[in-house]
Amino acid sequence: MRAFLKLSIFILALCIASSAATAGPIEKGKNLADQLCARCHSIEKTGQSTNKEAPPFRTFSEKWPLENLEEALAEGIVVGHDEMPEFKFNPDQITDFLAFLSSLKE
Ligand code: HEC
Repeated sequence: MRAFLKLSIFILALCIASSAATAGPIEKGKNLADQLCARCHSIEKTGQSTNKEAPPFRTFSEKWPLENLEEALAEGIVVGHDEMPEFKFNPDQITDFLAFLSSLKE
């Protein structure tokens, strides 16, 4: 019984470790977008935004170089629109977020 228990804990630990390792920047960036932005913007490769005023994320990289967005994210995005709250991202989040945005191109 003890051995079985130890084995289970070992396997569980392995699963946790490998899932953490596979959550790459794109996935983390998508999680961020999902939590913070998806209730208005479409964050998928296709489909409309929930809020018709909010442009789908995949259009961003067509409009500006993504580096410009990097600056905006670091300073806190303020778009001249009451509906959109102000966000400030930390540098790690920005890296993840931009990786995710780049993944929407193609
Ligand atoms: C409550 C709804 C809402 C949420 C949440 C939201 N946005 Fe927006 N966002 C909007 C709307 C509406 C616009 C269009 C504003 C305008 O055109 O004046 C917009 C515009 C933008 C623009 C400018 C697009 C352009 O073409 O000028 C960027 C960049 C942007 N949002 C990024 C984000 C990011 C990043 C998040 C998540 C961290 C986010 N938004 C979350 C509603 C939202």
